[in-house]
This record gives sequence, structure tokens and C-alpha cells, in this order.
Amino acid sequence: MAMRCGHRPVILLLVVFVVVVSSPFSTALGVNWGGASSQPLPAPKVVTGLLRPNGVVRVKLADADPAALASLVGSGIGVAVGIPNQMLRDLGASKKAAASWVHDNVTRYLSDRGPGARLGIEYVAVGDEPFLLSYGKEFEPYVVGAATNIRLALTAAKADRIKVIVPCSFDVIQTESNLPSKSHFRPDLNKTMTDLLSFLANYSSPFVIDVNPFSALQQNKNLSLDYLLFQKKSRPITDGNSSYNNFFDLSIDSLISSLSKVGFGEMEVVVGRIGWPTDGAVNATPSVAQTFNKALIDHLKTKSGTPLRPKRFPTETYLFSLLDEDRRSITAGNYERHWGIFTFDGQAKYNVDLGQGSKSLESAHNVEYLYPRWCVVNNNNDKDLSNVTAGASEACSNADCTALSPGSSCFGIGWPANVSYAFNSYYQQRDQSQESCDFGGLGLITTVDPSLGDCRFAIALRTSFSTSIHETLIATRMMILSAFVWLYLLSFS
Ligand SMILES: *[C@@H]1O[C@H](CO)[C@@H](O)[C@H](O)[C@H]1NC(C)=O
Ligand SMILES: *[C@@H]1O[C@H](CO)[C@@H](O)[C@H](O)[C@H]1NC(C)=O
Ligand SMILES: *[C@@H]1O[C@H](CO)[C@@H](O)[C@H](O)[C@H]1NC(C)=O
Ligand SMILES: *[C@@H]1O[C@H](CO)[C@@H](O)[C@H](O)[C@H]1NC(C)=O
Ligand SMILES: *[C@@H]1O[C@H](CO)[C@@H](O)[C@H](O)[C@H]1NC(C)=O
Ligand SMILES: *[C@@H]1O[C@H](CO)[C@@H](O)[C@H](O)[C@H]1NC(C)=O
Ligand SMILES: *[C@@H]1O[C@H](CO)[C@@H](O)[C@H](O)[C@H]1NC(C)=O
Repeated sequence: MAMRCGHRPVILLLVVFVVVVSSPFSTALGVNWGGASSQPLPAPKVVTGLLRPNGVVRVKLADADPAALASLVGSGIGVAVGIPNQMLRDLGASKKAAASWVHDNVTRYLSDRGPGARLGIEYVAVGDEPFLLSYGKEFEPYVVGAATNIRLALTAAKADRIKVIVPCSFDVIQTESNLPSKSHFRPDLNKTMTDLLSFLANYSSPFVIDVNPFSALQQNKNLSLDYLLFQKKSRPITDGNSSYNNFFDLSIDSLISSLSKVGFGEMEVVVGRIGWPTDGAVNATPSVAQTFNKALIDHLKTKSGTPLRPKRFPTETYLFSLLDEDRRSITAGNYERHWGIFTFDGQAKYNVDLGQGSKSLESAHNVEYLYPRWCVVNNNNDKDLSNVTAGASEACSNADCTALSPGSSCFGIGWPANVSYAFNSYYQQRDQSQESCDFGGLGLITTVDPSLGDCRFAIALRTSFSTSIHETLIATRMMILSAFVWLYLLSFS
């Protein structure tokens, strides 16, 4: 008894020490983890094989994927849970719907299985760029209502510390000659933006903005690649007394200037998304992406802040993105499916410090693939290949051919290798089913890897809904059965 009492202060000290040392989410860098993939890397592998070994302390999820959330429980990683735009209307219309969303997708992960078992949800992100110009008024009327209802539901669920945010696309801001002083919120958003800012201020939530230097380059906004990549040799942009050496500071101050003009100049800012793609367009390569991300992270580490907010960078910055996602919409461009710092199967494309320090990025180990089999064009002389293009476009309309576009990794492979690429993409997306490599008799299954140079012919992952879970279930049933048989036999001995 005496011994126990004597140890108490020590234990208390230890507890305090642990809490301070692992001071959960002290780093300002996070990553986006989305699930728009035909071959999602299993969530436990993402958490234990990528996020943790690479020192990632924060993730932002596109939705409330139960597998991702379950894997993050107890990981010590801070989480932003997303609500897709399609749900905003219902959540805005009904407090009950919001309460049930919070109950199903938040509260159950916060249960009292001890503080170590809790999920570190920091934010609920209501919508995903709902004010994007190309959406028109599709989601705008429901955003603030949905955010308010989610806020009320979180408070009722005693989850006050979780902040409600609304990630905004950069086109909520209009600017002239790229100058922060001439930036302001889009006039058509006026009432909605006024309500949103008042809501965010009422609950001390940050304004979340997505910054997209690559699309600025695509849209030819008179900004040089060097300027977007933080290169010292690029010419600064001068705005009054301020001089901007890079696109990041320029973008942040355009937002701060816009906020100031409507009376919210002190609002915290978070960058919800920023990154550089590695394929699907000119200047989208692993090497340029590495230059961008490395320069961005180094810049953030200086803690210099921006001209309008010296020594004060956005509270957090979420890189876009962790993994490639082949189901992302390519309306903006083929590069949309190649934002990953890692390939779809968790292999690092380049090196950058996500929190692991000077070590190289660790790729996912023991990834389970289907068989080493590919689908290619049957190139026998007796085949009439004149019709093979129809097969390719059929494959491409379902699968992912973005790496074949000009400037991409498979652009130069020629014909009919490019058709084989299309066939294979479709075949792998269909979990290598035999009939998916038919193409009117023009497809051929091969065990020889057709990859050429940088052009990788991928093999599908053995995902949860294919064989592995099924096999595990069968194995478990067999074990239980044999245990019963043993017990039965033993009862006679
Ligand atoms: C979250 O909760 C809602 C409401 O109960 C439910 O319809 C939805 O499927 C849940 N999961 C996700 C991923 O949003
Ligand atoms: C909306 O318009 C009013 C009146 O012109 C203005 O005072 C206010 O700042 C505007 N709000 C935003 C967010 O632009
Ligand atoms: C913010 O708080 C003020 C004062 O309590 C209130 O009048 C206003 O409606 C709130 N705004 C929102 C959007 O909740
Ligand atoms: C483009 O940038 C150059 C150099 O910064 C500047 O002189 C020129 O006026 C700009 N053009 C436009 C259309 O903004
Ligand atoms: C620029 O700096 C000068 C001197 O510090 C100051 O008087 C002036 O108001 C500033 N101008 C702007 C646009 O901030
Ligand atoms: C060519 O493809 C079309 C569409 O898939 C198909 O209807 C047609 O029969 C094919 N022609 C030949 C000669 O294979
Ligand atoms: C393959 O290359 C040929 C010749 O360059 C081209 O006509 C065809 O459209 C390409 N097909 C695909 C699927 O990229």
C-alpha cells in the first residue's frame, strides 16, 4: 500500500511527461487521404504502413469511411472527417439527419475505451469545395444550414472541442493582376459568405482554403513555374509595400485581404489542400512535385509568415494527396488522378518530409496484389487489329487511361502498346476477370510484364472484397469446426 502511494507522484509525472512529449497534434502539416479509388489500399495498411512510419500527425478524410476511422482509433493521429457535398441538402434541412450523422460517424469513435483508444477527431469538414464556380448554386444554399446543424449535433453529443469547417475552393476569391490588395470574395456569394464567416467566427473555427498552384499554371495566370515552385530566381510580385516571392504567400494574403475587407481580418486560416500532381499533364512529374512539396515544407518550417501576417502561417496545411485515386473526376484535367505522394499501392514516388525527418519516405510493405498477369493486345499476325481502337476507347471510358495523355508517363509508348495499356487498366479494375480481357478476341492474358520505362502497367490489389476476406472467413470457420470436433472427441477420452 505504502509503496503504491509512494509511486503515485512518479506515475503522475510520467503521465504528464507522456502527454507533453507526444503533445498530440503539434505539427502544422497534414495530408489528405481520399478513397476515390477502384483499388483502395486497405485502411489498416495505410495507417500502420504509411502514416505512422512516416510521422504523419494529421489526416483529412474525404468522407467518414468506417474502415479509415476504425484504423485511426488509438493512432494518435489528428483527424478531419469530411461530409460529401451530396449530403449537404439533407443535413441542412433536418436537425435529426445531422444528429444521426454525428451519432453514426463521430460519436461512436469517441467512446470511453480509455483516452488511448479515442479517435482524435479535430474537425468535421462540411462539404468539399461546395462553392466551386462550376457547381453553380447546386450546393451553396445548404452549406451554412448543414454546418449549423452539425455544430448543434456535435455540441449535443458533448463533442464541443471538434470544430466545424467548410473547405473552400480558391475561386471563392476574385483577384486582379494577382494582387492581394485587389482580392475580394466573389460578389455572387455575398449573403452566403457573410453567414459562413459569422458562423465560423461564432465558434472560433478557421477559414479553410484550398490552394492549387498547378491549376494556376494550367490556367496561364501569368505566373512562371519558378514562381509557383518557390524558386529564388523568380521575379517577386509587388503589392503596395509588400513583396511576394512565391505563389503560396501571395495566395494566403489574397485570402487575408479578402477577409479583412469584410471585417474578419483576424480569422485563423487553414490550407485544406495543396500539392502537385505527378502525371497526366505537362509539368506534372514526380521530380517537379518533389521540388514543390519540399520547397513548401521548407518554407513552412521557416515560420516566417506572410507579409500581411508576419510570423504567422496558416494554422495547418494539408498536403494533397496521400495516394493516387483513379476514380477522381477528370473534368479539370487528366492530372486529377495523380496527386499522390504515394502510388495507389502505397509506394513513394519521391522523397519529402511528412514528419519522418531526414529519413527517406517509407513505402507500404507486404502489399497484397492479384496474380502477376496483364491483359495486352493479341498481336498475332492473323488478327485484324483495325478495330482495336474501339476496344481501347471502351476500356478507357471505364478504366483509367490518364497516363496516356500528352505529357504523361505512357504518352510515348506508341501503338498498339497504348491499346494494351488501356486493355490492362480495364482488366485490373475488373479484378483480372477472364472476360474483362476479351475485347472481341483482341485481348490476350500474359505473364510477361509489359511495362515500358516510366510507363507502369499496374497489377490490381487484392482488396477486401475479393479473395482475402473470404479465405479468412473460411479458415476461421474451419478452425472453429475442428475445435468442436476435438472437444467432442476429448469428451469421450
Ligand atoms: C454517416 O451517417 C449517415 C447518417 O446516419 C449515414 O447515412 C452514412 O452512411 C454514414 N457514413 C458515411 C460514410 O457518411
Ligand atoms: C456583402 O455585401 C454587403 C453590402 O454591399 C457588404 O457590406 C458585405 O461586406 C458583403 N459581404 C461579403 C462577404 O462580401
Ligand atoms: C453568430 O452569433 C450571433 C450572436 O450570437 C448571432 O446573432 C448570429 O446569428 C450567429 N451567426 C451564425 C451564422 O450562427
Ligand atoms: C504579366 O506579368 C508581367 C511581369 O510581371 C507584367 O508586366 C504584365 O503586365 C502581366 N500581364 C498581365 C496580363 O497581368
Ligand atoms: C507603406 O509604408 C509607408 C511607410 O511605412 C506607409 O506610410 C504607407 O501607408 C504604406 N502604404 C501601404 C499601402 O500600406
Ligand atoms: C468493331 O467494333 C464494333 C464495336 O465494338 C463492333 O460492333 C464491330 O462488329 C467490330 N468489327 C469487327 C470487324 O470486328
Ligand atoms: C494510340 O496511339 C495511336 C497512334 O499514335 C492513336 O491514334 C490512338 O488514339 C492511341 N490510343 C490510345 C488509347 O491512346
